[in-house]
Amino acid sequence: MKRSTQSFGKTADGREATLFTVTNDNGMSVSVTDFGATVVKICVPDKNGNVADVALGYDTVKGYENNDCYLGAFVGRYANRIGGAKFTLGGKTYELEKNDNGNCLHGGFDPYSTKMHEYEIIEDEDSIGIEFSRLSPDMEQGFPGNLDYTVTYTLTNDNEFIIEYSAVSDKETIVNFTNHTYFNLGGEASGSIYDHLVRIDADAYTPTDKELIPTGVTASVDGTPLDFRTEKPIGRDINADHIDLKNAGGFDQNFVLKTKAGDATLVATLRDPKSGRKMEVYTDLPGIQLYTGNFLKAENTKGGRSYKRGDGVCFESQYFPNSCNVPAFPYKPLKADEEFNSITVYKFIAE
Ligand code: GLA
Repeated sequence: MKRSTQSFGKTADGREATLFTVTNDNGMSVSVTDFGATVVKICVPDKNGNVADVALGYDTVKGYENNDCYLGAFVGRYANRIGGAKFTLGGKTYELEKNDNGNCLHGGFDPYSTKMHEYEIIEDEDSIGIEFSRLSPDMEQGFPGNLDYTVTYTLTNDNEFIIEYSAVSDKETIVNFTNHTYFNLGGEASGSIYDHLVRIDADAYTPTDKELIPTGVTASVDGTPLDFRTEKPIGRDINADHIDLKNAGGFDQNFVLKTKAGDATLVATLRDPKSGRKMEVYTDLPGIQLYTGNFLKAENTKGGRSYKRGDGVCFESQYFPNSCNVPAFPYKPLKADEEFNSITVYKFIAE
């Protein structure tokens, strides 16, 4: 295994960003930056050994400063939507930023993906990790508690890209971290992912209203276009006449997983029949958002090109959207001094 660092450019306000690249013994590499703890590149061999970058993104830090589509973004303090942009904790109601139709999306207007992080390298014989850390001050984005968190990205010689989160707060708070990397297993510039095959091991999902706020119940995937228990192409049912697909303009739903905290379980696979690249998703979180880039529109991306609707797909492991407001959903606030932990693994195979 080897690693290198290079400059990733300067932000408009003069912060110097660094790009860290780790390469394993199979020729797979991952590049991440301290700006936002963002995932910039994931370069993976195909069945013939040809390496392509399967993560959508930008060439320098500049693109990530106005990253409205959250390409490669680490999302905090609370992933996905919080209905009405407020929640109650210990009898107190906290108002958040309304950056999405009166709701709070991915933390609000001041996302973690624009914050500079400290870093530390963790080297082992068969893996190299980069641990990013930061203190999110009390009431940042409107959330209580000084939150000390780490995001560790590790590449192994088994072609696993491991994402681990940990956090501790000095006051009771809510935390829901995710990663918003868009994958295209044909290569980031290869266009639509509608012919990629997806499997998700979920019998249920969380239906939403028109603003994509969960209604508070879970519904069976049986007989619906949301049944991914048998692998199928993304494009097959994406335009189906189903209320949840209409509300989201495609796939943008949270699936109910059969996982257990602390135990990374295989929950989903993504496969590109053309290149033979396959990705397995493991997590210990209770939910995963399948998001097929329905709102994706990004200019001046890698190589000076652009991305449009359907050019990438996200597998965002998470606590269910708005779970801080829905007692029936599996979620517990983080107590003062208690440690938050979660793990998600994207493993790559070529066949
Ligand atoms: C998540 C949401 C989507 C969308 C994207 C960002 O995946 O579920 O509705 O907001 O983030 O574009």
